Amino acid sequence: MKVTLVGAGPGDPDLLTVRAARALASCDLVLYDALVDPRVLELAGTAARFYVGKRAGRPSITQEEISALMVRAARAGRRVVRLKCGDPFVFGRGGEEALALAAAGLEVEIVPGISTAIAGPGAFGIPVSHRGVASGFVVLSAEPAQSYVSVLASGPHPSLTYVFMMALGRRAEITRTALTHGFSAMLPAAIVLGAHTSRAWAWKGTLGDLPQVELPVDRRDLPGLVVLGEVVALPTQLVSADGTLVTMDDGTTSVPKEDLREYA
Ligand SMILES: C[S@@+](CC[C@H](N)C(=O)[O-])C[C@H]1O[C@@H](n2cnc3c(N)ncnc32)[C@H](O)[C@@H]1O
Repeated sequence: MKVTLVGAGPGDPDLLTVRAARALASCDLVLYDALVDPRVLELAGTAARFYVGKRAGRPSITQEEISALMVRAARAGRRVVRLKCGDPFVFGRGGEEALALAAAGLEVEIVPGISTAIAGPGAFGIPVSHRGVASGFVVLSAEPAQSYVSVLASGPHPSLTYVFMMALGRRAEITRTALTHGFSAMLPAAIVLGAHTSRAWAWKGTLGDLPQVELPVDRRDLPGLVVLGEVVALPTQLVSADGTLVTMDDGTTSVPKEDLREYA
């Protein structure tokens, strides 16, 4: 009796692992979260689907009920996939669910996924680490309120990138806390919405401007990240999904993939 905890990645099904796609194709039941892209769910074929998502401020199934459901289904002989966006162990309560399943005597397989903490900024040419600019990165959650404060309270680390999840509605609070603890209002900052989906959107500016940024009205339903750090200001040139060399800054060239050999 086994439950497979699967990371669905940031959105685009092309970014699923092969193992995740196999688990979906061979299961009988998928329990999925609010942020799982519908295109990923399609890979579950004829398996039964059960929505167990939680969205802020709305009544939803409890964590205990989700675990109980998985235990019941697995004991009844069903091949259960628990599908979570990004990676199951990055602010996804995957650890708690794995422990609950193990405590019930079930085998648990973890299939990692690409976390939006890395792939989200990356989708807009922001590398979370970069030699000589950022020697590391921290991933923080803004839920529950103030949970990140102890990290910011140790002051700015110029060689770190700060990635905040569940933070769109807490931009003012994050900015206030950062400024209070010595971060510069000129520190490069970014907002990334719906990365790796067809509606992806990003803003780049400075920490001081972060609270005032108007999110596009037609994208306020999208999940998003806040990124702080010098890497945001890098004039990055990266290869986009369609094979062109792209740049986030105006005035630089876009080179077809075939010509990249010249740079190798
Ligand atoms: C409950 S956490 C889950 C994180 C997930 N386990 C991961 O590894 O990416 C949900 C948060 O992930 C981020 N997120 C999820 N999908 C995203 C996307 N496509 N673009 C930007 N941020 C996203 C948002 O910060 C959102 O509030």
